[in-house]
Amino acid sequence: MDFGEKFERGLRLMMDAIAEAESNGRAPLDSPAMQAELAEIARLRGRPAFYPYLGSGLGRGARAMMAEGRWVLDFALGVGVHFFGHGNLDLVETAIRAAASDLVMQGNLLFNREYHALMKTLLEHAPRGMERCWLSLSGADANENALKLIRQKRDGRPGVIAFRHCFHGRTTAMAEITDRPDYRIGQPATFPVEYVPFYDRADPDSAAKSLGALREIIRRNGDRIATFIVELVQGEAGFVTAPREFFVPMFEECRRAGIVIWADEVQTFARTGELFATDLLKLADYIDVITLGKILQGSALLYRKDFTPDPGLISGTFSGVTVAMAVGRRIIEKLIGEGYLGPSGRIKTLEHLTREHLERLSRKHPGRISHVDGVGAMLAFRVDDGSLERTRAFIRRCFDAGLALYYGGHDPACIRLFLPAGCLTEDELAGAFDILSRCLE
Ligand SMILES: Cc1ncc(COP(=O)(O)O)c(C=O)c1O
Repeated sequence: MDFGEKFERGLRLMMDAIAEAESNGRAPLDSPAMQAELAEIARLRGRPAFYPYLGSGLGRGARAMMAEGRWVLDFALGVGVHFFGHGNLDLVETAIRAAASDLVMQGNLLFNREYHALMKTLLEHAPRGMERCWLSLSGADANENALKLIRQKRDGRPGVIAFRHCFHGRTTAMAEITDRPDYRIGQPATFPVEYVPFYDRADPDSAAKSLGALREIIRRNGDRIATFIVELVQGEAGFVTAPREFFVPMFEECRRAGIVIWADEVQTFARTGELFATDLLKLADYIDVITLGKILQGSALLYRKDFTPDPGLISGTFSGVTVAMAVGRRIIEKLIGEGYLGPSGRIKTLEHLTREHLERLSRKHPGRISHVDGVGAMLAFRVDDGSLERTRAFIRRCFDAGLALYYGGHDPACIRLFLPAGCLTEDELAGAFDILSRCLE
């Protein structure tokens, strides 16, 4: 048998194993054994899991199967990663084929063809002006690379302007920018970070106040600021949206001051109804640098040609996992080719249906649901007063009832629905709202 035949045989064996797992559907553990494993994980990492989620690896579509065999509708998606849900056979097959390659990991010195294919596909569909790409592993990695190349192009200016309540990752520099002092306890401040309030729908003067704050920072400190980093839809803050008109005057102000505009699309990538929130809001003309992650199954930094860094500034051993690169690329192809994007795409349809469910839920439980926000496959709402404690307790109640959700914001917090728009059926969506309604009672 030559290598090619062995290879094909290996693939068949893997596909058979998947088919068998699906038909048997047997849970690997019983409940006490799963609890024991979770307790062991908590001990090893020194912190318990948020809720008792231990996946079996046998999930299907929008439903994850816990290791003990219980099914849970997954509206948390690994914090927005698994757009196509669990066990998507197209992605599984792509993964198997890529797994059979000669390398598990690829690097920046030596790479295989998946490296090229992913970059090319990304740039083909990227907002106008994005002509360069650098791949990396996590969202924070891409952001670190972005910060370095921006500072290099701005003669080492150290400072950053960011939005209040922003989240940009947990590496040293990203934790310094992220507006959560409780996430950097014990960390020294090493560069200037100045904050501008994000859009507040409830305040008619919101846009003017933010623009005023930005102007004041630029007046005071403009020549020390390299970049304005923005989430076009705030993610960890609780899926907070803002209109195009909110951003444009601020971006124009930054342009005049030579401040680079950087869209952190780690969370928004492929979830707003367009591939890029930059395009949804028609802001491509203003944005110089974009970072991506999550749904991409790895991360990437896209930038204008004139931002190309000097050799040596960004690199690193790894550029990605071979399987993740192949699957990331297939995900983009599916999003574009299978009707998910655009005003009448699947994401928008699910957004409308979910908003209708939220309205019904709100009518059924008067005064308990408020602050509905978000766009596309990222929607959020507040339950009761939104206190952190009650929101977390509500999410845990939903998990026990069969629905995995996560929260955003701090205090007040909100429930975030990460819609598995790549597989969610309307019955499953209705099922999720039945659980929400029962858990409100
Ligand atoms: C907007 C944004 N930027 C960066 C990150 C960091 O990504 P990662 O956790 O992959 O490092 C996140 C993660 O939630 C994010 O939402």
